[in-house]
Amino acid sequence: MKKTFLDYVLRVRLPITLFVALTSFTLTYFASRAERDGVGYTPDQPINFSHKLHAGDMKIDCQYCHTGVEKSRVAMVPPLETCMNCHRIARKDKPDIIKLTKYYNEGIALPWKRIHKVPDFVYFNHSVHVNKGIDCVNCHGDVKQMEKIGQMNSFTMSACLDCHRNALTRFPDLKNINQGPDNCFACHR
Ligand code: HEC
Ligand code: HEC
Ligand code: HEC
Ligand code: HEC
Ligand code: HEC
Repeated sequence: MKKTFLDYVLRVRLPITLFVALTSFTLTYFASRAERDGVGYTPDQPINFSHKLHAGDMKIDCQYCHTGVEKSRVAMVPPLETCMNCHRIARKDKPDIIKLTKYYNEGIALPWKRIHKVPDFVYFNHSVHVNKGIDCVNCHGDVKQMEKIGQMNSFTMSACLDCHRNALTRFPDLKNINQGPDNCFACHR
């Protein structure tokens, strides 16, 4: 009696349980994938700031606003002071600029929505990449053409590793570039 029950559990119940667990894991894994990767995420921002206009047409350097890229881990989104360098004068009668000026005068930072983000347990550093000559385009896409900015590339572990392992063939023109690290402690410190 006991033996046949165990037999039933092993032959019928266990495979079914495993099958259900595996299927639901696989389904949620792939269904939530885009969300975790963030690819395509292009939120509305409190002000319609256009990269195409400022970085593309007007050719303002990325570094003029993202002052951290060569110096630190983070690129940094510019404070309103940077915008006001021009918008104290430029287009100050437009609704978006009136709103901008109001935030500035009240000393409140604009609540820009963050787009690109790796989890806290991952160490990423802009300066080590940018100072080796890797252009923003490689990771963020053609920002100069973006009216509204969104995430173009995946920042998963395999995406990081794919570039790290193929860096020498991917950037034949960059002198002094090494292959990126693939040991766990480089990115998980
Ligand atoms: C005039 C200032 C300015 C210039 C020039 C500029 N940016 Fe930005 N950038 C911003 C502001 C403000 C935001 C936040 C608002 C937004 O996301 O649209 C931003 C957001 C971003 C983001 C998304 C940040 C996030 O939350 O993940 C990226 C990536 C970016 N910029 C890359 C670039 C690149 C590449 C260039 C040069 C081709 C550039 N920017 C030039 C002001 C600027
Ligand atoms: C180097 C000068 C300069 C800087 C810095 C700058 N802008 Fe501009 N911006 C302009 C000019 C000039 C225009 C108008 C361009 C045109 O319409 O041809 C403009 C247009 C705009 C517009 C469109 C206004 C409208 O409705 O016509 C917005 C919104 C804007 N800027 C937001 C920002 C924000 C936010 C920042 C800071 C992150 C910023 N700008 C930084 C020069 C600048
Ligand atoms: C090797 C890939 C790579 C390159 C090259 C790169 N970025 Fe990034 N960028 C990232 C990653 C990954 C994040 C998310 C970082 C995080 O969550 O800490 C990010 C986030 C950002 C952000 C928002 C968060 C922050 O760090 O302030 C801005 C703005 C940005 N990048 C701008 C730029 C600009 C401008 C350049 C070129 C000068 C550039 N990036 C080059 C990968 C890259
Ligand atoms: C477009 C290619 C590219 C992408 C994408 C990229 N990296 Fe790198 N990374 C490199 C290269 C090349 C190096 C080595 C630079 C050198 O030493 O010459 C490097 C170096 C590093 C280093 C070593 C820094 C140090 O202090 O020595 C870390 C950490 C790192 N990357 C993390 C990441 C993470 C995390 C991601 C994904 C979110 C990422 N990288 C995506 C190309 C890339
Ligand atoms: C080049 C950078 C890089 C290296 C090297 C790296 N990782 Fe990661 N790892 C990441 C990034 C980015 C994420 C977060 C994005 C994701 O989940 O893919 C991550 C996520 C993870 C996660 C969480 C998975 C999840 O689904 O949330 C684990 C576990 C992990 N890494 C283990 C490792 C181990 C073990 C190694 C060494 C064999 C390693 N990593 C090497 C960048 C790296």
